[in-house]
This record gives sequence, C-alpha cells and structure tokens, in this order.
Amino acid sequence: MPKIIQGKFRILDNRKVGRGYFRMAIAAPRIAKAARPGQFVLLRCSNGPEPLLRRPFSFHRLRKNSFELLYKVVGRGTNLLSKKKKADTIDVLGPLGNGFNLRSPAILVAGGMGVAPLVALAEQLADRKQILVFIGARTKQEVLCRQDFKRLGLKVHIATDDGSLGYKGLVTGLLKKILLRTTNYELRTTIYACGPKPMLKELSQIGRRSGMTTYGSLEENMACGVGACLGCAVSTTSGYKKVCSDGPVFNLQEINWEQ
Ligand SMILES: Cc1cc2nc3c(=O)[nH]c(=O)nc-3n(C[C@H](O)[C@H](O)[C@H](O)COP(=O)(O)OP(=O)(O)OC[C@H]3O[C@@H](n4cnc5c(N)ncnc54)[C@H](O)[C@@H]3O)c2cc1C
Ligand code: FES
Repeated sequence: MPKIIQGKFRILDNRKVGRGYFRMAIAAPRIAKAARPGQFVLLRCSNGPEPLLRRPFSFHRLRKNSFELLYKVVGRGTNLLSKKKKADTIDVLGPLGNGFNLRSPAILVAGGMGVAPLVALAEQLADRKQILVFIGARTKQEVLCRQDFKRLGLKVHIATDDGSLGYKGLVTGLLKKILLRTTNYELRTTIYACGPKPMLKELSQIGRRSGMTTYGSLEENMACGVGACLGCAVSTTSGYKKVCSDGPVFNLQEINWEQ
C-alpha cells in the first residue's frame, strides 16, 4: 500500500472561482508526487477542535510540488476552508483511496461538483483526440472547468437543467442522445464519472447497455478515511466495500444501487 502522509502544508492560493466555489492550491511535494487522479485527501478545516472530523476532497490538479482542490461551500467545514489565506498552513492526510485507471478512448461525465477530479484525470489521459467530456450542472453559472478541458484540446458537451447553457436536461440525457447518433464510439471506450448518485446509477445502466465499462467516484460521509471505522460502506456484487479505502472509484456496474 502506498505511503499515506500526514502533516501541515502551506497554502499557495485559495480563491473564489464562482458563486460558492473555491480553488485551493497546497504546496506538498511528497503528496503530489504519490497521488493519482481519483484519490483524495482529508483536510482539517480549522486549527481548533471543531469540526472534529476531517473533510474529504478529491485531487483537482496534480503538479510536481503541489496539488489543487476545487470545492463548494456547503457547511461548516467548507466555510472555514474558504476563509484560509495564502501562506496559512493546513493539516492534510493523503493521498487516500484508489484512483482512476488511465485508459483511452474515454468519455468523462461530470455532474455538478463532480467535475473536480475529472480535470486531474483528463490531464493525465493520453491520446486526447479520443476523449469526450460531458459537464452537467443546474444552471450556466454552475458549469465549472469548461475552459480547463478546452485548453487540453478536448471536446466538451454541456447540459444544464434549466437550459441556460447547452442541452436542456440531464447530462445523461445528452450523453444518450450523442451515443445514439455516433457510430464511431467503440466498445473499448471507458466511461469515467463523478457526480450525484442518480447520475452514477444511470451511467452504470448506459454502460451495461452499450458494453462500455463505467467507473465512477462515489461520495459517502467519512470519518476515519483509511478503512478502519466502516462508516462509508457500500453494497457491491462482491459484498460490502469501503468507499475510502476500496474506492472511491468503483466499477459502477458492480454497485448494488437499491441498497
Ligand atoms: C471521496 C470524496 C471526495 C470529495 N471531493 C470533493 C471535492 O473535490 N469538492 C467538493 O466540493 N466536495 C467534495 N466532496 C464532498 C465534501 O467532502 C463535502 O462537501 C464536505 O465534507 C462538506 O463539509 P462541510 O463541513 O462544509 O459540510 P457539512 O456541515 O458536513 O454538511 C453540509 C451538507 O453537505 C452534505 N455533505 C457532507 N459531506 C458530504 C459528502 N461527502 N458528500 C455529499 N454531501 C455531503 C451534508 O449532508 C449536508 O447536507 C468529496 C467527498 C468525498 C467522500
Ligand atoms: S471512513 Fe472509516 S472506513 Fe471509510
């Protein structure tokens, strides 16, 4: 098992990138070097005792000596994170979990905040001509990272629930529409996804019907983050698995979605 590092690291930047969205860069050469897309870190959000539990965040970008996180303020911990300043230190534990394998051709599907780890994945996938990106969000203002994918030369399809940008409807609806009219996608294409559970469930069905393997990063509330407390168990075709240490990336066709 790769070494898990814990320590206080320097914040290089922490800036607002949208309504309620922040991007934080942390200088941590040993963590950045060991990390793979799809893995995550646990952060202590304050220097005091509260909140007690560390919060999990996926690697958004991996650099030689640093990594970036993209996060949305949803509660106490993320609100405290958003107040951190450049040159503050932050307590980090990671890299944790098992990340994405790197296969192309690939289709990347992001739902909302789920776009965060898919940027790190896109940066490391070879043969970018064979990668399609789908981003789904509630509304135009919540479509994140479109330019990051475009800068990598990737074709990006957008869906918004309210139709304010791109296709009107769910990102899975757009994916189905494009797959139906595309004849050149291949069975060896891998779908990689991160987003809300209903989206991942539907992608597992799309993958099954089309013969494409579908990997997704699952989110569960976490306590220990290292496989010790069983707080993040999910039911799979081969028994219960821990999202923090067996995942967070799973073959979605192996998840028992009804439990
Ligand atoms: C492996 C993993 C990777 C993640 N990566 C990212 C990321 O890259 N960017 C990002 O913004 N968030 C990510 N999350 C979710 C993030 O951990 C939570 O948003 C955060 O812990 C909330 O902390 P809080 O104290 O601000 O909110 P809390 O006060 O703890 O909760 C506020 C609200 O957020 C909900 N919530 C809390 N934790 C989660 C969770 N794990 N999943 C879904 N909803 C949650 C609660 O149910 C509640 O409604 C990830 C979660 C996991 C498990
Ligand atoms: S959070 Fe403790 S086992 Fe996963």
